[in-house]
Amino acid sequence: MKGIILAGGKGTRLGPLTKSVSKQILPIYDKPMIYYPLSVLLMAGIKEILLISTPRDISLYMDLLGDGKELGIDIKYEVQEESNGLAEAFIIGEDFIGTDNVCLVLGDNIFFGQSFQEKLDIATSLSEGAYIFGYPIEDPREFGVVEFDSQYNVVSIEEKPKEPKSNFVVPGLYFYDNSVIEIAKNIKPSSRGELEITDINNEYLRRNKLKVILFGRGFAWLDTGNPTTMLKASNFVETIQQRQGFYIACIEEIAWRKGFIDSQQLKKLANKNIKTNYGKYINDLLKNDLSK
Ligand code: TTP
Repeated sequence: MKGIILAGGKGTRLGPLTKSVSKQILPIYDKPMIYYPLSVLLMAGIKEILLISTPRDISLYMDLLGDGKELGIDIKYEVQEESNGLAEAFIIGEDFIGTDNVCLVLGDNIFFGQSFQEKLDIATSLSEGAYIFGYPIEDPREFGVVEFDSQYNVVSIEEKPKEPKSNFVVPGLYFYDNSVIEIAKNIKPSSRGELEITDINNEYLRRNKLKVILFGRGFAWLDTGNPTTMLKASNFVETIQQRQGFYIACIEEIAWRKGFIDSQQLKKLANKNIKTNYGKYINDLLKNDLSK
């Protein structure tokens, strides 16, 4: 399974913050936003990753993450010339995906909570068709709403419905078999001029190959699209990290726990940020877990 992080977009809801810099490079508490979706791919065990951003911003991500070797992974980069929609990721990423299945995660989505790993394990075991996720929201009318049967087969997906058929909405994390490339190539831009991910999902639905995995209570899916939600996400991360002493989206820790890097390499990475709590946290992992 390959992984794509889509980190382009216009970020208009965050202006002037995003006037000269990409949204997903901005901080969520103590780390760049992009660390959060990257940590999802690492948790899913995906080591071959394509990061897509704008012509202006792609070099920022290259500076930040490099070729991924220090995390024991392989990161490639591609440019999306215009914000032509999420589904364009599979056209831009065609060569990168090759004959594999692929997971797409949006660069501004944060996931955190118990049993996330189990849900990712189900999704990565995909042999054919597609998995999307469903997250319960108090008022789902501003989102893509998913309706499903008792076997978690999707029955409908509706964008911003006035009368939602469920209160589960679709977050920015999707798992597809290889036919996603052909499907993406065949959809037409919507009225807002974008290749819509919902059209891809609807094609899988038409083929009876779309399943949903539900997040329940106690799970956080946080949006970071405007200044208020960004601040709330930062506060959330700070609260959990301070209270529990476990970091959210520490990519070095996940790479180490997954066995992508050894303890010696983790120590090197810790030393890069040793003056910060982030670096000290990584260093302490080695002290506290002598089994590694
Ligand atoms: P959006 O939140 O839909 O758009 P945006 O980030 O441009 O923000 P705004 O609405 O404030 O203008 O995008 C969701 C995610 O997908 C975000 O991480 C940016 C990314 N994205 C792309 O990389 N390319 C695209 O063509 C689109 C539409 C989004």
